[in-house]
Amino acid sequence: MCGIIARVGRDDAVETLLTGLENLEYRGYDSAGIAIKNGTGLKVRKCSGEVDALKTGLDESPTGSGTIGIGHTRWSTHGPPTDENAHPHTDTTGEIAVVHNGIIENYATLKTDLEARGHEFESETDTEVIPHLIDEYRQQTADIETAFRKAIADLEGSYAVAAIVDSDESGTGTSPDDEEAIYAARQGSPLVLGLGSEEWFLASDIPAFLEETNDVIYLEDGDVVVLEPEGYRITDLEGNAVTREMDTVDWDPEDAGKGEYDHYMRKEIHSQPTSLANTIEGRVTDGEIELAEFPAGTFADVDDVQFVACGTSYHAAMYGEWLLREADVRTAVHRASEYESSAGPIDERTLVVAVTQSGETADTLAAVRSANARGARTVAVTNVVGSTAARETDDALYIRAGPEIGVAATKTFSSQSVTLALLTQRIAADIPDAQPIDDLDAMLETLSDLPEQVETVVETSRAADLAERYLESRAFFFIGRGLGHAVALEGALKFKEITYEHAEGFTAGELKHGPLALVTEATPVFSVFTGGGDEAVQTNATEAQSRGAPIVTVAPEDHPAVESGDAHLSIPDTHPVWAGLLANVQLQLLSYHAANELGRPIDKPRNLAKSVTVE
Ligand code: F6R
Repeated sequence: MCGIIARVGRDDAVETLLTGLENLEYRGYDSAGIAIKNGTGLKVRKCSGEVDALKTGLDESPTGSGTIGIGHTRWSTHGPPTDENAHPHTDTTGEIAVVHNGIIENYATLKTDLEARGHEFESETDTEVIPHLIDEYRQQTADIETAFRKAIADLEGSYAVAAIVDSDESGTGTSPDDEEAIYAARQGSPLVLGLGSEEWFLASDIPAFLEETNDVIYLEDGDVVVLEPEGYRITDLEGNAVTREMDTVDWDPEDAGKGEYDHYMRKEIHSQPTSLANTIEGRVTDGEIELAEFPAGTFADVDDVQFVACGTSYHAAMYGEWLLREADVRTAVHRASEYESSAGPIDERTLVVAVTQSGETADTLAAVRSANARGARTVAVTNVVGSTAARETDDALYIRAGPEIGVAATKTFSSQSVTLALLTQRIAADIPDAQPIDDLDAMLETLSDLPEQVETVVETSRAADLAERYLESRAFFFIGRGLGHAVALEGALKFKEITYEHAEGFTAGELKHGPLALVTEATPVFSVFTGGGDEAVQTNATEAQSRGAPIVTVAPEDHPAVESGDAHLSIPDTHPVWAGLLANVQLQLLSYHAANELGRPIDKPRNLAKSVTVE
């Protein structure tokens, strides 16, 4: 939710910033901007619209080159997506520019105070108070770094902030204020330091600078960073030096690009055989689950397990909950945004599993904090090493899906579900009186076939034909039972998210308790058969069919329901736990092709952002 990038180097920063912004666009795309410092006064260019619009603007009005710069791509929170509200924001003198991700909760008070002191504001954003505050403090101290620290200390809320200062419009580059530096701070919003060769980056996420370096430092809340051409300094707010470990991420720069595909989403659907193979690698050996993070016995003192998650991750969490219930473990799955009131009794024997691709979703982090405060043990199942969820929980289990850029989650759902399937069996094996599911051996044996089976689905899918056939429908329904219910909900979420068409997922049995009133010949019903409760799903599908609805079965080729359906999306034969994931790949492709036919901006659906860092 909003992406920031900052870069200090020895050559021109403009192209690097623009590439970084393109790679961060999944975090927000309603406006974009950059500010460049070259010792001749700040050059700020910004506009509503995507990074492409910014590039067009730069062609018409270039900033000129500069070795230091900051950039921003926005997902609006305070104020609509207008040119004025786009970042970077500047102070009244135009000498200080700031980009920010997060929410400044006390901005109204700060703004009133600053206006009383003569500061003039141009935007409706909360961010704009920051450059004005820095300016206010630099009038009291000649030192910009001190002014920055004082300004940051006044902020309440969440922020990843980067600021540059250039007070020399004379072109001589001789102003005493003109330290060649970027000042940045983090509190509650992600900020990663990238260590290149003779260039340094700060960004909301690694893909921003992955083409330049994969050596990173994950900054922590309270960190203040100063980037200079010679290197970087990390301190706390008071200026005391802080040491943070460097990590080398194993993501390939190609993972952050679209490659041969028109859309990231398509690329990410097609890359699932690889991402799933990575997820599984080394985690099942000789028919035994081996999670290096959780050796046998780790969960022996757990009484009950709660999952917390949002959106697609919630659907993956439903997988986890279903599997634990099968194993006789007391468990529940909670919408993270409702957790504060829905959690019920928790103590130190409660394990709370936060499922979050980004590891930065504000609702999920709030649930984690609430669980931590109540004494629960917490685990993050996440894709992003060093993310806030990974750091604020007791342990992290990584899904290893590689970077996902398309706003609609695809490969991460598959990897989350597989990771959770393994984690739940580890938990069940540890808890006295629980037991892993009956046919665990068969489940683990078939898991190794899953990547190849996904490949088969992707290569042979007829989802494009069906998307075209049913495109004129009034609504799209998805039904399933058990694990198939999670898939039905996920199928509907994906469909509505990227096609903007009305889509709903139901447990198949609920259809007759209300939704059937909506069913007509213009409402195809996609019926998911996973090999659990299939006869009942077929009965419910027939009820809809006899009211005129076309039935699309998502099932193995030789499934008895296929014959009576109106159309079919085929999945290979496998264990019921994996069948749902194969069905989901068919539904991902269905959504993709329908959205493509409708000409929707598939990777950047309206009003959405990938990482939702506000509650
Ligand atoms: C839908 C989608 C969202 C996310 C949700 C949680 O395609 O991507 O519903 O699943 O915002 O995000 P994470 O998993 O990052 O916590």
